[in-house]
Amino acid sequence: MKFFIDTANIDDIRAANALGILDGVTTNPSLVAKEGVSFHDRLREITEEVSGSVSAEVIAEDAEGMIEEGKELAAIAPNITVKVPMTLEGLKAVKAFSDLNIKTNVTLIFNANQALLAARAGATYVSPFLGRLDDIGHNGMELISTIAEIFDTHGIATEIIAASIRHPLHVTDAALHGADIATIPYNVLAQLVKHPLTDQGIERFLQDWENAKQ
Ligand code: E4P
Repeated sequence: MKFFIDTANIDDIRAANALGILDGVTTNPSLVAKEGVSFHDRLREITEEVSGSVSAEVIAEDAEGMIEEGKELAAIAPNITVKVPMTLEGLKAVKAFSDLNIKTNVTLIFNANQALLAARAGATYVSPFLGRLDDIGHNGMELISTIAEIFDTHGIATEIIAASIRHPLHVTDAALHGADIATIPYNVLAQLVKHPLTDQGIERFLQDWENAKQ
């Protein structure tokens, strides 16, 4: 499973990229709005930092508007992936982008049929939102398994991005249940590194080293 970072914050993106494990970035309108910067300028900065896929979401709600916006976003850099919401209009736009060889990430996926439709329209990625399903008492992880099984059964190449990740267990489970990618906020990424026994172990090694010198 590959790691993407789920943010529009350039400092967090640079910090994650410095770890050498970053394969891409996902943004959404809420994440960009938090930054208070120009969307296109920020996308330029991000695509200069990260060579993997950078998802940028369209705001238009009709296919024509989405296609127009998506073309502008895709022109910013070759590694831009146009993020499209899972709607009837979104599907039409995904098909058009696929014909234009523009990569797409279909977002706000909450059931398997949505993922299958997006894949058949030509989506490069689908993004099931685990955390938001868990929030309403559904099982987000079960959705990942179901989509992975369907894609496997039918030889579908569309990649599954486990999105709306809230904690480290989501990451492990997403990998176990067949997600190709997990898109993770920086605070969760940093938590993945930590274990109290690792910290204790380092402290003890250093203490023993100091004691041996005396
Ligand atoms: C994915 O691409 C979305 O940006 C994101 O994972 C949404 O997560 P949230 O439910 O924490 O807002």
